[in-house]
Amino acid sequence: RLDDDPSRPSYHVTPPANWLNDPNGLIHWNGRYHLFYQYNPAGPFHNTIHWGHAVSDDLVHWEDRPVALTPSPDGPDRDGCWSGCAVDNAGVPTVLYTGGRDKRQLPCIATAADDDLTAWDKDPDNPIIEELPAKPEVLRTEDWEGEFRDHCVWRENETWYQLIGAGIEGGGGAALLYESADLRNWEYQGPILAGDRDTAGTVWECPELLDFGDRQLLHISNYEDVVYFLGTYEDGEFDVDRRDKLDHGDFYAPQSMWTDDGRILTWGWLPEARDVSGQWDAGWSGAMSLPRELSLADDGGLCQRPAPELTELRGDNTSYDVVRLDAGDTEQLSVESRSFELRATVRLEDAEAIELSVLESPDGEERTPIRYSYESEIAVDRSASSTDPQATGDTQTMRVRPYDAPLSLRVFVDGSVVEVFANERHCLTSRVYPTRQDATGISLSAEGGHATIASLDVWELDSVW
Ligand code: FRU
Repeated sequence: RLDDDPSRPSYHVTPPANWLNDPNGLIHWNGRYHLFYQYNPAGPFHNTIHWGHAVSDDLVHWEDRPVALTPSPDGPDRDGCWSGCAVDNAGVPTVLYTGGRDKRQLPCIATAADDDLTAWDKDPDNPIIEELPAKPEVLRTEDWEGEFRDHCVWRENETWYQLIGAGIEGGGGAALLYESADLRNWEYQGPILAGDRDTAGTVWECPELLDFGDRQLLHISNYEDVVYFLGTYEDGEFDVDRRDKLDHGDFYAPQSMWTDDGRILTWGWLPEARDVSGQWDAGWSGAMSLPRELSLADDGGLCQRPAPELTELRGDNTSYDVVRLDAGDTEQLSVESRSFELRATVRLEDAEAIELSVLESPDGEERTPIRYSYESEIAVDRSASSTDPQATGDTQTMRVRPYDAPLSLRVFVDGSVVEVFANERHCLTSRVYPTRQDATGISLSAEGGHATIASLDVWELDSVW
């Protein structure tokens, strides 16, 4: 593992080196949790994708495993083993993924060759779906004969169901439903939901349907954002009553797993926010988000909170009962770190905004302010995050609904990752790249009035490797 780079996260899953994108094939098997991911062992760029593999006993600490899926030179996955999911088929761990070959995207299946899920037997009859559905017509581009990929598979009684992400010619993205009795012969049913291209993108990647009992959630990734739809799914149709972004920052193509005690944990890919040359210089690209638990609130909205298992990582604690800030005050916390969790309850009182600045150098040359304003907005301002011209400097924002004053804030900082959870509902994940060794300070300030920050805790977090 590359580990001497201060931008490398230590408690987020990263590839040992080289390229990582989407989480794939999440499964609890034989007592261990398996996380596969889109991986290029040849370098920190997206090409000829394999499935990388990490395992965990507790969802917090991870071990690297050898590459699990490799493109077959003569197979339908010759150009890449793209995203897919894992299911337990009557005791046989099975993955469905998209093979890439020439301009085609071809659904493939493989079964585990051992109980550690380190080797997989690809089905000789791959691809398992060869024809694109005729209606609606799947989008063709210069690069692809059909935008048709990624898999979410589940079983109801004796029937398997599968969603495949797609783009529709002249329309927007779509999540296409298939049915099967044996995971190999699939019958097309039609889209469960199709987007309008202006608001939800032209192609939907990595669709996932999650069942919360009386309500369901569908999320899709549309090249820009992860959009979720909440509503009811019945008889092949999804009725939407709310939609929002799952995360307002650098977070993409998530996938979820059910725990044995019935919780949904979701991981997403945190792409880099530095340019290609910066990724090349670093020798690695991409991190996995922390697992977040998704649930529904009493008011029907979506809750997102860091998986409770993550408290295992907490080390040294610095705690303040109350910090009272007057307009213009800056309070420097006594802890310095680039791998920590901060938890606080924020009251604006009569302030216009408070700023929590992390990864701050003593002279303020590098700093990443997280600004919470009375307009109910949280902004992560990256304009001074890094003096490195390879790093992005734009600001990311999200709206935090005002029904939950005071604001409950959890912030996870890890090398180049800043993950913000507000009111256990709204998430904004940012990638930042301080260059200075002393960019480890944390400070608080108020603007235009006074503010109070109650029960403020900072924990240093350990490495997960
Ligand atoms: C999403 C995605 C998927 C595809 C994979 C290829 O990031 O583009 O649609 O299967 O990545 O690596």
